[in-house]
Order: sequence, then C-alpha cells, then structure tokens
Amino acid sequence: MKKKVKILSTGSYLPAKILTNFDLEKMVDTSDEWISTRTGIKERRIVEENVATSDIAAEAARVCLKKANLTADDVDTIIVATITPDMFFPSTACMVHKKLGGKNEPAAFDISAACSGFIYGLTLAEDLLISGKSKNLLLIAADTMSKFTNWKDRNTCVLFGDGAGAMLLTSTEDENEENSILSTCLGANGNYDELLYIPAGGSRMPASLETVQKNLHTVVMSGKEVFKVAVTKMVETALKACSLANISPQQLDLLIPHQANLRIINAVGERLGVDLSKVFINVHKYGNMSAATVIVGLDEAISQGKVKKGSILELVTFGGGFTWGAAIIKL
Ligand code: ACO
Repeated sequence: MKKKVKILSTGSYLPAKILTNFDLEKMVDTSDEWISTRTGIKERRIVEENVATSDIAAEAARVCLKKANLTADDVDTIIVATITPDMFFPSTACMVHKKLGGKNEPAAFDISAACSGFIYGLTLAEDLLISGKSKNLLLIAADTMSKFTNWKDRNTCVLFGDGAGAMLLTSTEDENEENSILSTCLGANGNYDELLYIPAGGSRMPASLETVQKNLHTVVMSGKEVFKVAVTKMVETALKACSLANISPQQLDLLIPHQANLRIINAVGERLGVDLSKVFINVHKYGNMSAATVIVGLDEAISQGKVKKGSILELVTFGGGFTWGAAIIKL
C-alpha cells in the first residue's frame, strides 16, 4: 500500500527578549510610525548574545516531541532549514541532535533556501517518508537574523527577528487525509542573487579585516525590488499549489504567508481573493524570522484555535535566492 505522510505535531520557540520600534528609535534614525506604516512590525524577538540558532531550534523540537509523546530516540531524520547556522559545519541539525540527547544516530542535515526553507524542507521530508527512507522525521526552521543584521542600517535592521518552529512527521499507510500534505510546490531564480544577500564570509569573499570593517557579513537588501517580486511569485506559487491539490484559494480555511511585511501579506491575500479574515498575521509581534515564519505561524494558528480538524491551510513563502514555495495541508 502507498505510504502517506502524517503530521504528528508542531512546536515553536520565541526568545523572551523583545526589541520594540521605540527601542530602535534610540539606535537608528527611524520612528515607530515609519516602521508600522511601511511594514506592520511593532516589535521582534532577539536572542541573547550567547544563544545560537541550534539552541532555539532544539527548544522548538523539544516542544514538538513532547506534544507527540515521542523522544529524540524515535526520530531517524533531522532537517534544519536555516541561513544563520551556528557555524558552516558541523550542521545545525547535528548540533540539534546533540542537544536533544538521543542515543540513536539519525540522518541530520541543514538546507539553505532562506525564507522558503520550511517549504523546501517539507517537500524533501514528504519524499523521504513516502519512499520509506525515513519513518519519523523532525523538520525544524530556525533563524537568528539578529546575528547577521547591521544594527546601524535602518533599511534592514527594523525588519528582522529571531525564532524557531518545528514539525514532527511520520509515514503511515492509513488512507485518512487528516494531518496530511495535499500538495507542495517550489521555485527559484538565482538571477536575483544580489537583491538580498550576505556578501562575505563564504568562499567568494572569505572573512578578512576589510570585510568586517565594511560590514559585509550582514544582510544587504534592495527593499523595493524584493517587494515587487515577492508579491508576484507568492501569488503564482500559491495558485500552483492550490491547483495541484485541486482546490481554489477561496476554499482555504487559512492562508499563512511568509511574514516579512504586512503590505506584502495583504497584497498576496487580496490577489488570491482570500478574505483578509482568513489570512494569518503575526508579523507585528515577531518581524521577519526568515525560515521560521510559516511554521511558527502554523503552530500559533493551531494553539490559538484558529484552525480545527479538517481545516485546509496554505503556507506560502518567498526569500533570498530568490526562492519561493507553497504547501497545502489538511489538518
Ligand atoms: N526608518 C525611516 N526611514 C527609512 C527607514 C527606516 N527604518 N528605512 C528606509 N527609510 C527611508 C529610505 O531611506 C527612503 O528615504 P529616501 O527617500 O530619502 O531615500 C524612504 O525611507 C523611503 O524608502 P522606500 O524604499 O520608498 O520605502 P518602502 O515603502 O519601499 O519600504 C521596505 C521599504 C519596508 C524595506 C519595503 O520595500 C519592503 O518591505 N520590502 C520588502 C523587503 C523584505 O521584506 N525583505 C525581507 C526579506 S525577503 C522576504 O522575506 C520577502
């Protein structure tokens, strides 16, 4: 019998420290009014100096495992979607394995698809589970954008925040569609590489005194251009995932778009013809947490009772690369 994928649980972790727009007013030439009207963001969470991505990733994973009543030893694959790993290697997924303290030796690796990382991970997870190569898979999306932000650049420092979300998935032969993935779709266009990137620190421009002095280890972005492509591609990919699942956007019970900017979120909802009451928003509380936004959104939507058994949801993302992706899930 053909295997199907079942979502066992979701979890999230947000650092306790809050950085408000008013705090930012004291750091750069900006205002709560500018940030609120241009982005919808009011505050974001920031990790402490000694906290890295694997720390918050492991916290989200622990919540997920506890909800599903499983332990780290039950997991045979750990995937972490991140663009802010603890270090180039070992992978953040290996660090998470160590932190969870399992005695088993699962497959563990990171994937890099910027803000679309969770959907890329979900697509990969689905294939590993359906092929029988994995039985219980922990998919985590975690980013500590604050560590790669130029806190003197008002164009970017107001946008980002830190956070982590996790999903535990298993394979089943149960025909029931509950907690399943109905469709996923991915895309990318590398020609947009210089509209959103971190210039130095890789093999193209290794770290040097000059790269540090020129602040080339932090996010550089052309905001207006990112905005335009983001809306177009998120709408396109959201429609494609709907069509693959044989549903219309109007049949969605909830749309969870990548949380980068309230104006992008509203534009995507409007163009898809989804009533704004069915568009999930938490960007005001957390800013753009990169790969973590949609899974943190899903976890919050479930815990806040915004979705119930049988609800059909769509997650849609867009990020550096550019990359994009969408997934339709039935709870
Ligand atoms: N406070 C005050 N003024 C600012 C700030 C700030 N924080 N940042 C920029 N400005 C200034 C600019 O310097 C500019 O001044 P100028 O006209 O004197 O040059 C002015 O505000 C207007 O800037 P615009 O670029 O016109 O502002 P816009 O309305 O495009 O909003 C923003 C900028 C919020 C960055 C928007 O373009 C955007 O959200 N783009 C998407 C970027 C994004 O979300 N990236 C995240 C990663 S990708 C993703 O996740 C989808």
